[in-house]
Amino acid sequence: MDTKYENVWNVVTAKLKGVGKKDYVLHSKLVTLAMEEIIAGEGGNKDVLIPAAMLHDIGWVNVPEKYQADVKGEDKEIAEKLHLEKAPEIIKEVLEELGYSKELINSIIRVVINHKSKEPNGDTEIACMVDADNLSDTYKEGFYSNVVSYGLSPTTVFEYRSKNKFFTDTARSIFEGHLKDRKAEIESGEADNIVSKIKDIKK
Ligand SMILES: [Fe+2]
Ligand SMILES: [Fe+2]
Repeated sequence: MDTKYENVWNVVTAKLKGVGKKDYVLHSKLVTLAMEEIIAGEGGNKDVLIPAAMLHDIGWVNVPEKYQADVKGEDKEIAEKLHLEKAPEIIKEVLEELGYSKELINSIIRVVINHKSKEPNGDTEIACMVDADNLSDTYKEGFYSNVVSYGLSPTTVFEYRSKNKFFTDTARSIFEGHLKDRKAEIESGEADNIVSKIKDIKK
């Protein structure tokens, strides 16, 4: 991780620890890693995109606990909406404290509140953000963490994640590599070993 953004990362980990069912600290770390890899292929302003990746799910901190759980249907929609709505205020406070300019803060907030966009319409920053969020779930660490958090089989999670769509060529090509690796782990039985190991550590 780029040391330039370490101060942002430290606040993110402190705030997100223990929030929600998913491991949001790990998730945010992997979204940031995904963002670094996507920027390497697509270009983009790191000063906007890296803090945006780190902070993209910070809104969950102020979402009522009942919506932080693994909710379904209408509640899921409310939860998703809330985590976007709650983000700007927290981001503003965190980044002002760290001396970020108003302009940069606004650019970061713009990317964060659009991280669930279904159609970035040629907006490269938003496309990179949406792709980084989706790509994070197929890295080895994130994939198996989700398998355990949600109590599902590796095959079920694999089938679900395979449907992910990407807007940038860079993300799509990294994603295809991830799928190949996860598939090989499932077929060789290594996937089950990894899951048992994570469960043992959690005990
Ligand atoms: Fe999110
Ligand atoms: Fe996310």
